[in-house]
Amino acid sequence: MISLNGAPLLQGKVAVVTGAGQGMGKEIALALAKAGAILAIADNNADTLSGTADEIAALGGKVEAFVWDVADPAAAVEVAEKVSRSLGDCAILVNNAGIHRRGLTGSPEHLDTWKSVMSVNLDGIMYGVTAFLEQLKRTKGCIVNLASIQSYAAAPNDTTAYTTSKGGVLMLTKALAVELARYEIRVNAVAPGFIDTPQTAASRSNPDRVAFVMSHTPMKRAGRAYEIAGPVVFLASPLASFVNGAVLPVDGGFLAL
Ligand SMILES: NC(=O)c1ccc[n+]([C@@H]2O[C@H](COP(=O)([O-])OP(=O)(O)OC[C@H]3O[C@@H](n4cnc5c(N)ncnc54)[C@H](O)[C@@H]3O)[C@@H](O)[C@H]2O)c1
Repeated sequence: MISLNGAPLLQGKVAVVTGAGQGMGKEIALALAKAGAILAIADNNADTLSGTADEIAALGGKVEAFVWDVADPAAAVEVAEKVSRSLGDCAILVNNAGIHRRGLTGSPEHLDTWKSVMSVNLDGIMYGVTAFLEQLKRTKGCIVNLASIQSYAAAPNDTTAYTTSKGGVLMLTKALAVELARYEIRVNAVAPGFIDTPQTAASRSNPDRVAFVMSHTPMKRAGRAYEIAGPVVFLASPLASFVNGAVLPVDGGFLAL
């Protein structure tokens, strides 16, 4: 149990985590549950999602799973209504779902890649925020977005769409932090470095890619998915009550170099 002064840090808060079927989203959902939150977990992969739900239930946590493609704005509205009805109003929205696609600008399929990456990584956040906004106003809740080290710098791996989308997540986080402060809603992000999740499986087996990332990572290793969870729990908690518009690097020092 993650607690403060003997009480669970997020006792009874309803937390929504997108992309919770695997990787960082799963670890974030588990950590929020350990901090006492009630979990609404979402993913477009029903199989992995039910695995995460089982693990949270095994911890004794209250959880409900929602199959939700974040790129679908109507689905966001439906899920938000269901969450409020069955668990209560959302107090913590973690916009974690994201896709990483390579594609060389000018290649025949690149515009399709561009559109799909933008629709999940950037539009998906705005659809979720819009759908849950009235609930977040009522709870004076908070939003945590998943940005990236690629919010700050491009990488030599043909990921124009991904890099641009994560740059957008950084500025969307700041813009929302400024705009939603009037409702006492805080908006922050974490910027993970190179993390050992299914999303980086191909990169981790590419020696050139690993050499490039390690040459720029003072801690000389990939992060583990659970190492993102603590920073997200912190940003979502009363410990961060005056933290707004921050993008917290969780990257082994990548952005310091
Ligand atoms: N792994 C890294 O090194 C790294 C670094 C920086 C940022 N990030 C970002 O962190 C977040 C989590 O990354 P990860 O490595 O855990 O990824 P992952 O690919 O391992 O997991 C992503 C999860 O999101 C789900 N998802 C994908 N598209 C979806 C959609 N349209 N609707 C709902 N769910 C969807 C997937 O099914 C999967 O369960 C992403 O936003 C990613 O871009 C990852």
